[in-house]
Amino acid sequence: MSKRLRFVHLGGALLVIASVGCSKGGTDAPAPASTGGGGGVPVAPAGGGAPDSIDKLTIPELTYSTASADVDKGKATFVAKGCVTCHKVGEGKLVGPDLKGVTARRDIKWIEKMILRPDLMIKQDDTAKDLFKTYMTPMANQNVDPVNELPFLLAYLKANEA
Ligand code: HEC
Repeated sequence: MSKRLRFVHLGGALLVIASVGCSKGGTDAPAPASTGGGGGVPVAPAGGGAPDSIDKLTIPELTYSTASADVDKGKATFVAKGCVTCHKVGEGKLVGPDLKGVTARRDIKWIEKMILRPDLMIKQDDTAKDLFKTYMTPMANQNVDPVNELPFLLAYLKANEA
């Protein structure tokens, strides 16, 4: 996404340079991009950048994998993404809640949203707001990849449901 945006910005800059060049050159040559204005390039959704509301989040349709390879990968991801700094799974609370059994007490979509955008959740979701009141530390956004990391984290949490 950010690469794409950078590319678009660059395109805009080049178009500006191009049209300046044309106007200096005289009236014969119409500025090639003047009608398009660079507006034809599909960019990010309206407003640009990351969604600012949990209602606008695109949450992948995931189910819990129970394959042991996925669970192992999830455990490694849990460490690699720094979740272990704040969460234990089965030995009580740390900075944040013990995540043992979280897949039983919460809806899968809610967990996905909490992992992908905790920053929005603790401002906009009632359950997350209550957790924040209790724990008094905001869960930081760990930039979890929804395709390459999230499904494995869910598999790991599910494996530790009971
Ligand atoms: C800086 C500490 C911190 C880090 C790092 C962190 N969390 Fe959290 N997490 C919290 C806190 C604190 C809460 C409770 C809500 C709040 O106060 O923001 C929470 C809440 C949660 C919840 C909801 C728990 C419940 O009982 O409903 C889930 C699920 C969760 N975190 C998963 C993760 C995962 C997965 C990672 C790693 C990608 C992670 N967290 C990284 C601190 C953290």
